Formats: sequence, C-alpha cells, structure tokens
Amino acid sequence: MGFVGAGYVAVRHVESLARLDGVRITAVTDPRVERMERFARLTGARSYAGHEDMLDHERLDAVYICVPPGAHGAPERTAIERGLPFFVEKPLACDVTTAEGIAELVRDAALPTATGYHWRYLDTVERAAELLADNPPLLVLGFWLDRPPGTDWWLRQDQSGGQLVEQATHLFDLARLLVGDLEVLHADAARLPGADGGEIHRAAMSSLRFASGAIGSIAATCVLSHGYRMGIEFFCSGRTVTLSERELLVDEGVRRWVTTAQGDPFLREDADFVDAVRGGPSQVRAPYAEALRTHRIACAAAAAYTGAKGEVSVRG
Ligand SMILES: NC(=O)c1ccc[n+]([C@@H]2O[C@H](COP(=O)([O-])OP(=O)(O)OC[C@H]3O[C@@H](n4cnc5c(N)ncnc54)[C@H](O)[C@@H]3O)[C@@H](O)[C@H]2O)c1
Repeated sequence: MGFVGAGYVAVRHVESLARLDGVRITAVTDPRVERMERFARLTGARSYAGHEDMLDHERLDAVYICVPPGAHGAPERTAIERGLPFFVEKPLACDVTTAEGIAELVRDAALPTATGYHWRYLDTVERAAELLADNPPLLVLGFWLDRPPGTDWWLRQDQSGGQLVEQATHLFDLARLLVGDLEVLHADAARLPGADGGEIHRAAMSSLRFASGAIGSIAATCVLSHGYRMGIEFFCSGRTVTLSERELLVDEGVRRWVTTAQGDPFLREDADFVDAVRGGPSQVRAPYAEALRTHRIACAAAAAYTGAKGEVSVRG
C-alpha cells in the first residue's frame, strides 16, 4: 500500500492494516515533511515529494488517500490512470463536481474502491438496521454538536467544505443506509459574529424528506469546546432507536436497553478493502459510487446556504 496524506486518519488506518496478514505499507507522500517522516519511521515506508513521484517509482497494489477535502481530485485521478484501487476518506471532496468526475473514471476503469464511512461497520448499526426494517421510523433527528477538530484546514470553507459536508456526512450516510432515499427540503446556517468570509458556518440545520414518507433533520454546530452529542435518533411506532459511535439505545418507555458497540469498524472496513484488492468478491459497504450518493445529499444541504447552484462551489 502507498499513502497520500500522513495525518491523523492515515495513522489510524496504519494501526488497522498492521493487524491484517500480508499487508505492507511501502510508500508515503505528504507536503508536511515532519509528518511524512514520522509516518515513514512508523511504517518503514519510503517518502516521496508528491503522489505522481510516488506512483512513478513504486509498484503498489493500492493507495490510501487521506487528505483534507479540498485536496481531493488529483491523487484519485493519478491512481485511476495507473489502474490502482484506492481507499479514500470521507468526504469525497468539498464539492460535487470533483467527486462526480472521479466516480465516472472509477466506473470506466472498474476499479475496487472503498471510502471512510466507517459507521457502516459498527455492529450496533447492523442491529439498528434490523430493528428499523421491522418497524420503520417516521421521524429522524441527527446531531453533530461538537468542537472544531484541531486540524489547521478544518475551519476554512475552501478546504473542508463546512461541517455538514465534512462531519455530519456520517449522519446523512446513516440516514440513507437505514431509512432509504431522501431529499433535502431546506437548510440554513449561521456564522459567528465577526467571522471572516472564508470561515465555515458554525451552526447548520437541514430538513429532510425520505422516499418512505418519513421526515427528518440533521443539525450541526462546532461552537463548543467539547464533544457534546454526535449521533442519530429514529422515532418508530412505540420505540426510539438512538445510535452514537459508542452505543445503541432502544427505548420503549416501559423497557429500555443499551448495547455497546463491539469490535473496530476501521479494522473491518480496511479488511474488506484489502480483500477487494486481492480480487475476492467485494464486501465493501461504501464503494465510491455509493459514497457519492451520500456526498450529493450533504452538498445539496450546504448549497442551500452557501448559495451554490446544484453544488457547493468552493474552489477558486
Ligand atoms: N472516517 C472518519 O471517521 C475520519 C476520522 C478522521 C478524519 N477523517 C477524514 O480524513 C481526512 C483527513 O483528516 P485528518 O484528520 O487525517 O487530517 P490531518 O490534517 O491530520 O491530515 C491530512 C494530511 O494530508 C496532508 N495533505 C494535504 N494535501 C496533500 C496532498 N496533496 N498530498 C498528500 N498529502 C496531503 C496534510 O499535510 C496532512 O498531513 C478528512 O477528510 C477527514 O474528514 C475521517
């Protein structure tokens, strides 16, 4: 494997890949040289000045692309040109156009891909899917009420795409996975007073309608200094089903039970990708085309308040 990007999430994948038989990480590129060198020491990978240089000099089986949202596009296109399967972290880009273009190239090249919608690999999400199939929700409420992550690019609109696209995309993905097709009816957002024009909105709300007839909303804020609440609630006949990354809570009033998530969803998603790279039947839960459907929804919500027509146009 080669890595494009050697930051937080790249190291998270390294920890998982180290637990899989027969996987070696042999190459890395990151413009932040100290990070790249730390990653190289950790994995034994050779360092490169850029992804083209890396792919010109290495014989890789696949690439992990773990860059900030605004840096997507060129790494994926170069991997596809070389016929290399790739794993790409969410979100697919800051905008829809970049991701649509890559999806077309992936389809034409028929390459295995995987994306970082790792909540799909939580055992509690599997259990919630069974509960919701038996008793579908009429109302869905998602929350990402958090502090800003410590990365330097995250608060910049042209680099992250904003909180709905960057973070709450996990919730849009769960809503699609567990309730089905949906559309964004309305969305709005607020900036901190005095924030400069390039900074993301610090609060955002979107209202949703599902093809099933259910309604919902996803709310996000990053004005806090601590992680307050990240999860999604489904209101069904006589029952609520609440998911966080840590647990599943089912509440029927007279009866209430909590199930703690077991296992490592990163390990499971990385194992599925490695199997697909090896040519086995793909068990990947969010290949590129599937992730694009979620990305379109998150971008449609953001477009409602960024003013972009049909997409979040934050480039240039
Ligand atoms: N699935 C998850 O739950 C999860 C968790 C954390 C991060 N992520 C996603 O992973 C992505 C990266 O997040 P992070 O926390 O690792 O950020 P990070 O800032 O820690 O790391 C990103 C790295 O990419 C490098 N980079 C930028 N442009 C590059 C380029 N053209 N080529 C090579 N490297 C480049 C940066 O220098 C940086 O070191 C984000 O999209 C984020 O949403 C997903």
